[in-house]
Amino acid sequence: MRNFFLRLVHDSCKLLVVSCWLFLCASVSLCLLVFCSIPAYAEKGDAVAGKEVFEKRCRQCHGDTGEGNGRVADKVYPPPRNFTWGLFKYKTSPMDQPPRDEDLLRTINDGFGEASMPPWRDIMTEKEKRDVIAYEKNFSDIFETEKPPEEIDYGEEILYSEQSAIKGKELFKKAGCPECHGENGKGDGIKKLKDVWGTREWPRNLTKPWTYNGGNKPKNIFARITVGIPGTQMPSFADKNSTKYFTEEERWHIVNYVRSLADETKRVKKEEEDKPLKAKYINGEIPMDVHADEWKGAPFKAIKLFPQDQTKEKFFKPTNDGIKWRVLFNDKEIAFLLEWDDRTKSVPGDAEAEKLSEGEVFEDAVAIQFPTAILPKIPIKEQLPSIEHGDMEFGVNIWYWSSGTTLSPQMTKVKYSYGIKSERVEPEIKAGLSGKGEYAGGIWKVILKRGLKTSNPKDDLQFETDKLIPIAFGNWDGSNGGKGNKHTATPWDWLILEKG
Ligand code: HEC
Ligand code: HEC
Repeated sequence: MRNFFLRLVHDSCKLLVVSCWLFLCASVSLCLLVFCSIPAYAEKGDAVAGKEVFEKRCRQCHGDTGEGNGRVADKVYPPPRNFTWGLFKYKTSPMDQPPRDEDLLRTINDGFGEASMPPWRDIMTEKEKRDVIAYEKNFSDIFETEKPPEEIDYGEEILYSEQSAIKGKELFKKAGCPECHGENGKGDGIKKLKDVWGTREWPRNLTKPWTYNGGNKPKNIFARITVGIPGTQMPSFADKNSTKYFTEEERWHIVNYVRSLADETKRVKKEEEDKPLKAKYINGEIPMDVHADEWKGAPFKAIKLFPQDQTKEKFFKPTNDGIKWRVLFNDKEIAFLLEWDDRTKSVPGDAEAEKLSEGEVFEDAVAIQFPTAILPKIPIKEQLPSIEHGDMEFGVNIWYWSSGTTLSPQMTKVKYSYGIKSERVEPEIKAGLSGKGEYAGGIWKVILKRGLKTSNPKDDLQFETDKLIPIAFGNWDGSNGGKGNKHTATPWDWLILEKG
């Protein structure tokens, strides 16, 4: 799968050439405008130079006029910010004050978690960052204040300890955080939320701090709980006039509880990305129970899901962002345990599911893709089937599991495909595959099991030991419009079966 954001950065360089003459024409008139409106405390940056930076790096999303309507705006989710509203989400100044320059700088440096906005820390010079901040502030009059905005009061930081996290857990409940973030912080709350821009909001999955947009250092989390996230449903817990007021000390305990929720096993490890996952060999039967001990000792790997953007019907608003997978095999069979965080159990026909769903509820689903043929010991890139369901030369097997409806049970099927548009896509045929899934606490766990060999070697992958096996995954969140081509998928990864 091509990396969408790298493409954006690349595209934006090309665009710069086209936009140079435009820039020259416009800059004379804009110089005047810009110089008139720079507030006193922003003199650090040069807004005129900042315009150039903005046009090179920011305008494809934020738009020429800063209204969030750039060329690729409809491909990022949530949409790029309209700066003319003067509403900023991740800041360390009190609710009623504009963000501090430091906040804008942090956003530019770190981007947003793993989503929408790229990090510019190593791409832009410090001067370029200061300049673009000065320019960005001209889009709204909220920055025309006498004094620079203040920084919130952090009180005395309480360092992490288990005791503090336990206190924080109680306060987390008392504050009503689970209503939105779920009992275990998976973002699987019971409320359907919209932000002031009218966009559907999915509360952050607090067990994945690497996806936080406002940073995941203790002070960043303290600031979020203190200020809230303006424009969204995430409230401030430092408003003395509100029943939801918590002291600085209490907020630090909550911070420590939130930190304790982190599940590092679901984070993609850069250093392991290119290494194959080793399936675990066991002597006995392979259990179809997701809680069985056999799974606990099996090596696992986390892989990132990307929005499917290759077909005509693209999918740019993903919720589920990764799959953790592990594999067991014995002399007869092989089984995969796929685990992913999903805020909603999507059961078509179920009233509760319908309440939370964004549009019609479809089934949740997951798929594994393998090449059709057995591969040589070291497969070369050119021999891999296209990630998009294979191609005319190299076909794929797709093992597909879906979660069922109120009327029909869970279902597993196999599909043989030679490319999405290929007419050689055959109907699903049962190939001795069995599947079983379980949803609890914001997590799906699904097992898919098949014989190592089948009676249909022309179409089915025949598993062999000591060979690198390409493998990829697809995922559907049925409460977020996930159906057919509207899904997320991973690039090719590698699996190896070793008995020793
Ligand atoms: C690929 C698209 C993209 C590019 C390029 C981009 N942004 Fe953004 N930006 C976004 C999105 C999307 C949001 C809103 C995210 C959200 O609401 O959660 C955003 C929000 C922001 C915010 C608001 C932060 C807040 O606290 O609310 C600032 C500031 C910002 N961008 C600055 C910049 C600057 C400066 C550049 C260029 C150096 C830039 N962006 C380039 C997509 C982009
Ligand atoms: C009414 C719903 C609601 C409640 C209650 C709520 N949150 Fe949130 N929270 C959200 C939403 C929605 C977001 C994501 C907003 C965004 O960034 O666009 C969020 C985001 C967050 C983030 C991620 C910030 C980031 O940088 O990305 C943290 C941490 C967080 N909430 C903690 C808490 C804690 C702790 C509590 C209780 C003290 C709480 N929330 C209560 C809705 C809520």
